[in-house]
Amino acid sequence: MFENLPKRVKVVEVGPRDGLQNESKTVATPDKVRLIEALAQTGLRNIEITSFVSPKWIPQLADGLEVARTLKLPPGVRVSALVPNLKGYESAKQTGVDPIAVFMSATETHSLKNINKGISEALAVVEQVVSASKTDGKSVRAYLSVVFSCPYEGKVDPKSVESLCQKLMAMGVDELSLGDTIGAATPKEVAELVRILKEKIELNKMALHFHDTRGTALVNVMAGLAAGVTTFDASVAGMGGCPYAPGAAGNLATEDLVYLLDSLGIETGIDLSRLVECGRLAEEILGKQLPGRYLRSALSKRNPKSEQLSESKEPGAIESVNDALRGISK
Ligand code: HMG
Ligand code: MG
Repeated sequence: MFENLPKRVKVVEVGPRDGLQNESKTVATPDKVRLIEALAQTGLRNIEITSFVSPKWIPQLADGLEVARTLKLPPGVRVSALVPNLKGYESAKQTGVDPIAVFMSATETHSLKNINKGISEALAVVEQVVSASKTDGKSVRAYLSVVFSCPYEGKVDPKSVESLCQKLMAMGVDELSLGDTIGAATPKEVAELVRILKEKIELNKMALHFHDTRGTALVNVMAGLAAGVTTFDASVAGMGGCPYAPGAAGNLATEDLVYLLDSLGIETGIDLSRLVECGRLAEEILGKQLPGRYLRSALSKRNPKSEQLSESKEPGAIESVNDALRGISK
């Protein structure tokens, strides 16, 4: 298992988008900017900063334009934003984000719940956005959600995932992120899906996006690494979830991912102690404890008493699930 692991891994930080989209607390724009600018000082080179979706669907990220325009980032940091349609693309274009992150689902029901469109309609809209992005010389990251399990339809057939991935790649997508949206995947399933997909898609164009609902995200990363994947998405302090996927808790915490990669001697260019500071900042901004395990451990060493006290509060991950359930009843 430890042989033939990659020497270097690309970490895509999705907390400011995947994390904050799921928070019931409205985070002030300057706080979002502060968090993203701190993340950009950790060595992270790829950060998803917001989405340009309907503010009626995701009010938490309604200030995307302002966030993107206010940010001051060091050279070499690439920022992406999630875009559902051409209207969102027009906003994204005003900000200079690159890559453009398009998204769709591997099941009909999740697709309808998440974007109010079935799969074939979603493919047509994604194609429009990819084409506009390419015309403007932008790169495109595509997310395919619920590739292992769907909260509405159960286990997802890898063959249907393969067929959708091929359609996305044929559009000219540069990177394809495979979403375990509800954190239900297991290492065997990860290895199997990557084995099937790598026949058709270059491994360096594939990313894995794990939510950590059942505590399997890190072991799934190991399975992904062993299968040759070199790009992983994660969210600072483990914030996150999809408001239109009941049961979707936070993403894999970026600190937990970097701790594992450091221990394997895999380069990321990211400074773990600076990431911990970002996790602490995220907790301060949200006014609650967040689920990242490495973060909890690092903060408890600093201040054991206050950690014990605050641990008696409801954990952030549970709040995220509750947020998700509230979202679905909209
Ligand atoms: P709809 O209601 O079917 O859209 O929503 P519509 O075209 O009928 O428009 C309705 C209204 O929204 C109109 O405004 C539009 O102008 C406006 P009104 O006339 O009523 O005032 N509108 C927009 N406004 C701003 N920006 C836009 C935009 N588009 C339309 N881009 C729509 C369709 C796709 C817009 C909606 O369903 C939506 O925004 N969904 C996004 C849901 C979302 O963001 N989910 C979470 C992200 S996905 C995720 O988390 C998974 C991921 O992390 C990977 C994984 O974990 O698997 C990526
Ligand atoms: Mg996600």
